[in-house]
Amino acid sequence: MNAAVQRIGVVGLGAMGAGIAQVAIEAGFDVVGREVSAELGEAARDRIEHFLARKAEKGERTRDEADAALARLRTTVELTDLADCDLVIEAIVEELAAKRALFAELDRLCRADAVLATNTSALSVTELAAATRTPERVVGMHFFNPAPLMPLVEVVRAELSSDVAVATALEVVERLGKVAVPCHDTPGFVVNRVLIPLLNDCVRVLDEARVTPEALDTAMTNGAGWPMGPCTLLDLVGIDVHVHASEALYEKLREPRLAPPPRLVAMRNAGLLGRKSGRGFYSHGA
Ligand code: 3HC
Repeated sequence: MNAAVQRIGVVGLGAMGAGIAQVAIEAGFDVVGREVSAELGEAARDRIEHFLARKAEKGERTRDEADAALARLRTTVELTDLADCDLVIEAIVEELAAKRALFAELDRLCRADAVLATNTSALSVTELAAATRTPERVVGMHFFNPAPLMPLVEVVRAELSSDVAVATALEVVERLGKVAVPCHDTPGFVVNRVLIPLLNDCVRVLDEARVTPEALDTAMTNGAGWPMGPCTLLDLVGIDVHVHASEALYEKLREPRLAPPPRLVAMRNAGLLGRKSGRGFYSHGA
């Protein structure tokens, strides 16, 4: 399991999976990205191509480097195409049953020495690993949104993760040019354990202090040095993703601040999901 990783599989090419695939091809890895339909695979490739082209336009990469990176990405709808990957990173929907079914399948079809990683935000890596016959090779690799821009990757050791699997993930994070923080498999790991209740507090303050989302964002960017305000950040992350993670943490820890504020739940129910749906706290594009 400690042979150098060269080929990485990414399952699920949504915002996070596509971002992870982009980071990996830019770092020189060969990537096999799996989506459920060819159209979704193409959409992810287009998204990555767009961001690589922007880097070339801005002189951050040469056109040849951008082309060479894109040539390292293969998309597929077949899970079996991941059979010869050294590391597979799962970034599908945040549902325990769907992820467990996927891990059981990956366990069957991947090489015995491949490391299996999950990008889950708030689910238990240990519970995912328990769906396999080889839980020692399962770890968490938690990237942050947007993955190409955010340096951190939490490398999560589940109850039965082997030292070799954790070391492999840490080595890959370094080769990706990212910053690793190793941690144990606790609800929310490090950042979300802090950020989720904090964002929930921000939303409660909207009503308590009777301020607009714009005013709250102005306060937090100018008064606390946040790179983007909490409402802008929630729109970026996705109101549905945040509510789901918040509910998952509340279920495990029962701290009142972890429960999603009713205002956010109502937004989720109304389809005001942020950038992905065109409307959240703010309106986004056409
Ligand atoms: N993917 C790839 N490339 C992207 C991108 C994306 N999603 N978004 C932007 N880029 C590229 C663009 O090409 C852009 O350049 P262009 O506009 O000239 O084309 C370039 O990156 C720079 O983009 P920005 O000008 O928007 O970059 P900023 O310097 O303004 O920084 C930021 C943006 C890094 C996102 C910064 O605002 C920030 O740090 N915000 C906080 C984000 C944060 O907290 N994320 C964590 C969320 S929590 C989480 O992920 C946990 C999960 O479990 C829920």
